[in-house]
Amino acid sequence: MDDNRVIIFDTTLRDGEQSPGISLNTAEKLEIAHQLARLGVDVIEAGFPISSPGDFEAVQAIAREVHGPVVAGLARAHAADIERAADAVRDAARPRIHTFISTSDIHIRHQLQSTREDVLGQARAAVAHAKSFLDDVEFSPMDATRADAEFTAEVLTAAIEEGATTINIPDTVGYTMPDEYAAFLGRLYDLVPGLRKVVLSVHCHDDLGLAVANSFAGVKAGARQVECAINGIGERAGNASLEELVMLLHTRHADLGYETGIQTREIARTSRLVSRLTGYPVQPNKAVVGRNAFAHESGIHQDGVLKDRSTYEIMDAASVGVDDASSIVLGKHSGRHALRSALEELGITVSGQALNTAFRRFKEIADKKKQVTAMDLEALVTDELRAEMAGYTLEWFDVEASSRRPPHATVAVRTPAGELVQGNFTGDGPVDAIFRAINAATRREARLREFRVDAVTGGQDALGEASVILEIAGQSAAGQGVSTDIIEAAAHAYVRALSNAERKVAVAAEEAERPERELTPTP
Ligand code: KIV
Ligand code: ZN
Repeated sequence: MDDNRVIIFDTTLRDGEQSPGISLNTAEKLEIAHQLARLGVDVIEAGFPISSPGDFEAVQAIAREVHGPVVAGLARAHAADIERAADAVRDAARPRIHTFISTSDIHIRHQLQSTREDVLGQARAAVAHAKSFLDDVEFSPMDATRADAEFTAEVLTAAIEEGATTINIPDTVGYTMPDEYAAFLGRLYDLVPGLRKVVLSVHCHDDLGLAVANSFAGVKAGARQVECAINGIGERAGNASLEELVMLLHTRHADLGYETGIQTREIARTSRLVSRLTGYPVQPNKAVVGRNAFAHESGIHQDGVLKDRSTYEIMDAASVGVDDASSIVLGKHSGRHALRSALEELGITVSGQALNTAFRRFKEIADKKKQVTAMDLEALVTDELRAEMAGYTLEWFDVEASSRRPPHATVAVRTPAGELVQGNFTGDGPVDAIFRAINAATRREARLREFRVDAVTGGQDALGEASVILEIAGQSAAGQGVSTDIIEAAAHAYVRALSNAERKVAVAAEEAERPERELTPTP
């Protein structure tokens, strides 16, 4: 590979999915993985297969169905984890096992309650075990930036001797600073003779807002793989944002010379898809993908941009695909064929029953809205994906709202067992009434944690996209719904969040039955 080629390792589906409230099902993970392949990422870290049967199934499905990128499964430095990861990625054209163990004394003492000697032995054994299944093995010394460089180097030397092909240096707690991180990597190059013969990778968290800066410092220090996530999602403050890092390398290519395989025009669409399916909004002023990233508010700026865009724009909005969404416009007279070609233009292939369902939803919306845009179609298609999930479904609802009486809602919900149940409630507002009526119908004591409604596009007839995070028995989960009626969107979002939370409660109950040594905390 070219010396300046930077491998983009996407961990949206693993570290990103560890963000609180995110619970993607296999179909949603597959949809994201297909889009990541279209985006041109080199590696998809598809999940942590031992963590749950659902994670295993999703990693396996991605390994089987998503072509192009390497598909990686995460594993602690335990034989059982590695075997499960190997099993999950086995059918990928290019499978990878990513195994890790902490090298910082803080983690070794307090979390692992172990010794450096043991950690060294476990790291060596883990890489050797992973190598017995496949060739492409990545090793990470977790919390490396707070660890002793000499000890970390000893562990890395062992991992390379056993055949690790990528060495990743995580800033697990987002503590390091760019110069310090670059110096740490330089020190490891000095101490680990084999490090120049493998791919050096960086994995930075954003606790101090330095994830992209640290990753970039890592690249300048010699790293040729960057681990990052769409919209920067991930544990706590998140991971380095893929779109920011990639657009930095792309925009300053003349000065830096680094290359990636990313199709930058797919960035905006990927960001929207991830935001929609995870329920994590993108802040308006977020670099590259925020809705204001290419908006000019001040008169002086607007004047400059009208005269010449280069006055206040360092990147072309079209280069990240922001304009692509405006090229498709359908109306109520558009037929099935037009819908199918518009979806294909968006990279979404539908046929048979899926096309019939998409067409029915499209007609419903087109009757209420003058123009159906690419953004609406994306929202509808992802909404259909959610509707396919097993769980509760909203059959119908009535809400009476008035400024003179408290609002009252009645709902009918189909349970996962197929039973139709009804409930009603008089609440503080129409949305409160419908959420509590759903609780009454399903006999669940779910507590609402967050509720948001966004307009998918501008205009009075815009589709509303509701997002709910709720909690049952200590498990929180998100759900989303799309409709021209925001109460309906909210109700769909609530029943989906309820279904996701129940699934998590069931998994937690199963985990509680397992012996303690088998429990799998996320890294
Ligand atoms: O942040 C971290 O250390 C990780 C490792 C598993 C690579 O996510
Ligand atoms: Zn991480």
